[in-house]
Amino acid sequence: MVEIGIVVGEARPEWIQFFAKDVVRVGEFVTVDTVDGQALYLVESSKLESKLLSRVHDYITAMEAKEASKVNPRDTVRYCTARAVGLVKDILKGIRVYPTLPPDPGSPVFLAEDELLRRIFHNDSKEWVEVGRLLRRNSVTVSVNLNKVASRHLAILAATGKGKSNLLALIAKRVAEKNGTMVILDYHAEYYDLKIEKMRFVCPKINPRYLDSEELADMLDIRSDATKQRDVLRRAYTKDVMRSPNFWEALEENLRNEAENEEDFQTRVTARRVLEIIERSLAIKGNIFDTEVESPLNLIEPNKINVLDLSGLTEIQAQIIVAHYLTEILNDRKNAMLKRKSRFRSPVVIAVEEAHTFIPQDRSSRCSGVLARIAREGRKFGVSLILVSQRPCKLNADVASQMGSFAISGLTHPRDQNFVMEVTDEVSTELGASLSSLNTGEMILTGQWITVPALVKVDLVEEKHMGMDLDAVGLWAEDANVGRKRISTEELIKL
Ligand SMILES: Nc1ncnc2c1ncn2[C@@H]1O[C@H](COP(=O)(O)OP(=O)(O)O)[C@@H](O)[C@H]1O
Ligand SMILES: [Mg+2]
Repeated sequence: MVEIGIVVGEARPEWIQFFAKDVVRVGEFVTVDTVDGQALYLVESSKLESKLLSRVHDYITAMEAKEASKVNPRDTVRYCTARAVGLVKDILKGIRVYPTLPPDPGSPVFLAEDELLRRIFHNDSKEWVEVGRLLRRNSVTVSVNLNKVASRHLAILAATGKGKSNLLALIAKRVAEKNGTMVILDYHAEYYDLKIEKMRFVCPKINPRYLDSEELADMLDIRSDATKQRDVLRRAYTKDVMRSPNFWEALEENLRNEAENEEDFQTRVTARRVLEIIERSLAIKGNIFDTEVESPLNLIEPNKINVLDLSGLTEIQAQIIVAHYLTEILNDRKNAMLKRKSRFRSPVVIAVEEAHTFIPQDRSSRCSGVLARIAREGRKFGVSLILVSQRPCKLNADVASQMGSFAISGLTHPRDQNFVMEVTDEVSTELGASLSSLNTGEMILTGQWITVPALVKVDLVEEKHMGMDLDAVGLWAEDANVGRKRISTEELIKL
């Protein structure tokens, strides 16, 4: 075992400080002996300081201090703090037990050996899947427990471009390998070129009969402040229309009636306007409505990765669709648990990209009710959430606090960092401060899906292209060349 430092100052059972002999990076694992046995610690902060150089106030003294520091090995101090993640013998059994007492001051700090970390982080059992390598030990692969994702929810919280969608694509790939069922709510058409097995793309359909009049108004793009238009629609959208085999004709018939026979001139004008709006909406996105479809569930296939394309919809339309789909999925899983007829006989994982638009903190959305319900009680029925967001502080905190596992990276805004520290127990202020310095694909994985919290370099999903920054200059050059090449010499002569 390589001794790299010595425990100093005040130590607590869960937290130690040590001086290091050499470089120790944040995310490194070290071991120290305690009265309860060997404990594993995650290095959360690492500082390098020259005592002489910290006290200077002018250039000349700084240069002198630099020379003095060079010949005085005591001057440069490497000071680290580390958090206990558990006793080694228990971690190896998959249990987290913390030391009851801190190590003695002066205890040696050892670098955790690769072999030990491999035994902790690599797991071949069937519910575990590989997602990357320890950031500070490239030779140690990291497995996560998919059963925990499929029961206790997961939040992927990271700044834009840090690899959230890549991690989600990787999880989807792993779920597909296990024949699992997943629904990805794709708000930005990010997954349409993801070519992994069992992936299918679904254009959502909704039966207008199942919408209330406000939802129908939203789906038809009637402005939310156009109260007169909404009133007219509500009057026209009768029970007879709802039951009519020719839904749109029946609705339009009622509206035409108002447009022609209503006494009030203004109402006649409004009814005509609503008719125009319906005509326009059906022309533009009529394919989303299907007056025959029995249940949205028929479009979602069990044991597949279903990408629900929500691009092209307004925020509110996407919320309405999501509310209908998720309510049906939850009800179906309740039926499955009660041994009634159901479509999904095994758990369903629902991934929500741009989660802050669907369950915002400060207001309720059309689908926040069902998402909160799944977060609270989905576990009982085998419906779980993966929430993906780059603005965690805008996420509903109650829902976020139900998440059992987290992947976090690159959050720079203090409000986002504080939010993450509030909803997870294991990201401390020190570790939170290092979040902004993580590079793309480098994430803190914590919670129930991983044996102990760790900084991980997530594997890149080669099959995913969307999200990459376009090489605009290269593409222009290519485009221009292609343009030239299209004209053959014979054609040029003819010109
Ligand atoms: N683990 C990773 N390793 C290497 N590159 C990655 C990794 N994750 C993402 N990237 C790259 O970073 C870019 C942004 O990733 P993406 O997953 O779309 O980020 P986000 O969804 O957080 O905005 C992509 O071009 C992708 O190729
Ligand atoms: Mg993304």
